[in-house]
Amino acid sequence: MSQLAAGSAARAAVPGPREPDRMGRDWVGVLAEVPLFRSLSRRHLKHVASVARARRYGAGSSIVRAGDPGSGFYVLIDGAVRVVPPTGRPRRLQAGDFFGEMALLDDSPRSASVVADGEVLTMTISRSAFSKLLKHEPSLAHELLRTLAARLRAAEKSD
Ligand code: CMP
Repeated sequence: MSQLAAGSAARAAVPGPREPDRMGRDWVGVLAEVPLFRSLSRRHLKHVASVARARRYGAGSSIVRAGDPGSGFYVLIDGAVRVVPPTGRPRRLQAGDFFGEMALLDDSPRSASVVADGEVLTMTISRSAFSKLLKHEPSLAHELLRTLAARLRAAEKSD
C-alpha cells in the first residue's frame, strides 16, 4: 500500500507544516484503513484518534534519530519513509505501516533513524498513550507482535 485511500483527504485536513494537530473523530475513517487497527471497533478507533496527533514532515526530514530516547509511536498515514539502522541495510515503510514501537517497548534508545522519503503525514501517539492502548487493546498488541515477527524474519533473511 503506497497511500491509504483516505490519505489525500487526510493530508488536506491538517494545518500547515510541522503544526501538530489533535486528530479527533473525523479521522476514524482514515484509521480504519490502517492494518494495525483493523480489529478495532469504531468506538475504539475514536479513542485512538482522540489520543493521536497528525504531523507532517518535508522530504528528507529526520523523524526519528538512532540513539535518541523514544518519546512516541508513529503510524504512516501518507507517503513513505526509509528506516536506516546503524548497520545493515535500510528498509522502506509505506502508508499503513508503523514505526517507533521498539524504543517504547524495551525502554532503550531508537534502534534506527527514520527519514521521510518525500512528503510524509504521520499520526503520533505519546509513550504513555501507547502503553495504555496496548494494555487495553489485546488485539492491537497481537497485530503489533505479528508485524514484529515478520520484520524479524525479514531482517534475519537479509543478514
Ligand atoms: P525504534 O527503535 O523505536 O525507532 C526506530 C524504528 O525503526 C524502530 O523502532 C522500528 O519501528 C523501525 N525499525 C527498526 N528496524 C527495523 C526493521 N528491520 N524493519 C522495519 N522497521 C524497523
